[in-house]
Amino acid sequence: MSKLLIDGGRILGGEAKIQGSKNSALPILAASLLSKGESVFFDCPFLSDIDTSVKILRYLGCSVKRSGHTLIVDTKGLNRDDIPENMMRLMRSSIIYAGALLAATGKARLTFPGGCEIGPRPIDLHISSLKRLGAEITERHGELTFKAPKGLKGAHIALSFPSVGATENIIIAASKANGTTVITNAAREPEITDLADYLNACGASVHGAGEGTVIIDGRENLRPANHSIIPDRIVAATLMSASAVTGSEILLDGVIKSHLDAIIPCFEQAGCKVEFEKQKMKIRAPQKLKSLGLIRTTPFPGFPTDAQAPLMAVAAVSEGITVFSENIFESRYKHVGEFIRLGADIKVEGKVAVVDGVKKLYSAPLCAKDLRGSAALAVAALAAEGTTEIDTTEYLERGYEDLEVVLSSLGASVKKV
Ligand code: EPZ
Repeated sequence: MSKLLIDGGRILGGEAKIQGSKNSALPILAASLLSKGESVFFDCPFLSDIDTSVKILRYLGCSVKRSGHTLIVDTKGLNRDDIPENMMRLMRSSIIYAGALLAATGKARLTFPGGCEIGPRPIDLHISSLKRLGAEITERHGELTFKAPKGLKGAHIALSFPSVGATENIIIAASKANGTTVITNAAREPEITDLADYLNACGASVHGAGEGTVIIDGRENLRPANHSIIPDRIVAATLMSASAVTGSEILLDGVIKSHLDAIIPCFEQAGCKVEFEKQKMKIRAPQKLKSLGLIRTTPFPGFPTDAQAPLMAVAAVSEGITVFSENIFESRYKHVGEFIRLGADIKVEGKVAVVDGVKKLYSAPLCAKDLRGSAALAVAALAAEGTTEIDTTEYLERGYEDLEVVLSSLGASVKKV
């Protein structure tokens, strides 16, 4: 078990490169199963969730080589359609292999996926959508079997909620189905568009990704393709939060502005100045932050649930009251108790957290309870007086590549022990 030791109170400066997006890379790696041969993926971050995906691909018979941030996946050896429970449990995104294996082999044998415990995370939309595409699905003792011996068939799928994962599963499965699939109320996150761009480069026909209606014309054969993963908008939001709580100016390289359109105004409301030059963003924070107002998490293009915890660290040290309303996951305030240990003034009732900013936070031993929450604790510790020790940082390694190195390069005092 690793720990982070953070000495708060340092002013940050300099430039950091934003890593590739975990939540884009994971479904794209699964989608590589749809074409036979070698696909090359650039900007794949070093993360434990990516390692899990690599393990799954290798278990399925594929060859995967890493050279720095490039992953070379050769699917010619694909010879299995099952994924063992110990791999499924490591991350939520393993469920995307249901659509990918079905499309590639006509069968998938999986168990329920794991992932951060941020509330009930059912897979009913994945199951009902794959059924609409003609998959026969059975569950026995926790094992799920998906079968489409005659192939999948295009269908109209109206999602009751724009689930990111379900939209990805449908797009992947429908890319090789017979006929046309129309998804309404599809998720519009940038990671969906990135997946569609990769599949289209493979010869698939996915139209409307990034909008509420996505149309997929199934193709019998796809070819491998090379693809660069988009930058991670949540890592960018986390580093922006680090700049804000320390009253610093930093430069972030590799940021796509439109991915952050719901986040930037929150920092501006707090008094930060944000400027762009192509894919470089400069953020300059004032010495005294103002409250961030009301932040409601909603599906894209709204404010992302994954950025809620890091921005709460900002709210904790901003003058006045910031109100958060978490509308995506039920248990996404696990960091609040730890913030309170640092001296933050936060009250939670159901979906709502009311943060009354304090002048100062003070170090305390902290325990991370999920991925984004652990990054938020690191951000808060940068603003706290004294040395803060954060436990169970393996959560961090699921989504942040060497956060301690990135923060240290910006001038923070962060050690991993
Ligand atoms: C993706 O999770 C991300 N994970 C999450 O990031 C992110 O928080 C989430 O989208 C929302 O943006 C990956 O991309 C790997 P959903 P996903 O399906 O696909 C309910 C992080 O920290 N739902 O859009 O699991 C669900 O319970 C992670 O990087 C159903 O009810 O999210 C939740 O309340 C955490 N039935 C809501 O929809 C279903 O079948 C949103 O889930 C599916 C989802």
